[in-house]
Amino acid sequence: MIKKIAVLTTGGDCPGLNSAIRAVVRSGIYYNLQVCGVLRGFEGLIDDQFIEMDSHSVSNILQRGGTILKTARSDRFMEKEGRQKAYDNIVKNGVDAVIVIGGDGSFRGIETFTSEHPVNVIGIPKTIDNDIYGTDFAIGYDTAVNTVIQAVDKIRDTAASHDRLFFVEVMGRDTGMIALFAGIGSGAEAILIPETKTKMDRIIEILERGWTRKKTSMIVMVAEGDDAGGAYKIAKEVKKRFSQFDTRVSVLGHMQRGGSPTSADRVLASRLGVSSVEALLQGRTNEMAGIVDNKLVFTSFKDVVNKQKDFPYELMRIAEILSL
Ligand code: F6P
Repeated sequence: MIKKIAVLTTGGDCPGLNSAIRAVVRSGIYYNLQVCGVLRGFEGLIDDQFIEMDSHSVSNILQRGGTILKTARSDRFMEKEGRQKAYDNIVKNGVDAVIVIGGDGSFRGIETFTSEHPVNVIGIPKTIDNDIYGTDFAIGYDTAVNTVIQAVDKIRDTAASHDRLFFVEVMGRDTGMIALFAGIGSGAEAILIPETKTKMDRIIEILERGWTRKKTSMIVMVAEGDDAGGAYKIAKEVKKRFSQFDTRVSVLGHMQRGGSPTSADRVLASRLGVSSVEALLQGRTNEMAGIVDNKLVFTSFKDVVNKQKDFPYELMRIAEILSL
């Protein structure tokens, strides 16, 4: 029987983590469970950094970026010895189950962990990259896309005043999800992503078309993992063949990981937080909670880390039509 649960955040941070922590703590208390937090993700499991949590400890955090529990990437948890220490501390603290708010790297570590030790774990997906299998949206993604759109709206003002072409680089080491959604949402003339091969000739064609149509500004949205290189490299290449516009580069960087979560992220985090606690009480373990077609689903960690999420390629066509 589950009497005490622990919650932790691990991997890169994102907006909405605090909303998820609050939901886990409050629903745990609602179901008469003891709840504790673990600081710095898996590192805190290994270093025995468990803190008791009550309803008051999650007051006034729903709307805050970052994570009150802190987060870290843990090399030690990738080692058998580290995982053994983590397990020993879970037992020592009387914890019956753990809720891990993390990304696919963290779930890979957890899959190994639960194959070695008898621990009940439910995962909650978070990453601004939105590339986790088993959920349509991961916590943090909606906020990051909105942050990029707000930034590009501002860049558009200065670009239009100066008749400039801007290359805006956004996060997405392995995926162009942010670039695609923010690109459509901000009316980018071209969107370059790792999922498709970047054709320089096509970009030049689009930019020349914009020039002919007397556009006063143009935006090329570049995902950091694009095959043609980062925004600076691509801008240099383009400049050699298209010099009609004065060109500037803007790399948005870690501002995309901060800020107050949007309503979509707050609701998603709240829903997944409560559902994870309920899942543990129903005897579920070794699964990640997610939302697919607006329904709650659970996917085994094995599938989460081994299967590839579908990419919405049809949106690239929409973006191209609208970039006229
Ligand atoms: O969370 C994933 C991500 O946003 C990637 O898109 C990006 O490359 C990475 O984080 C950067 O993270 P950090 O600076 O924390 O290593």
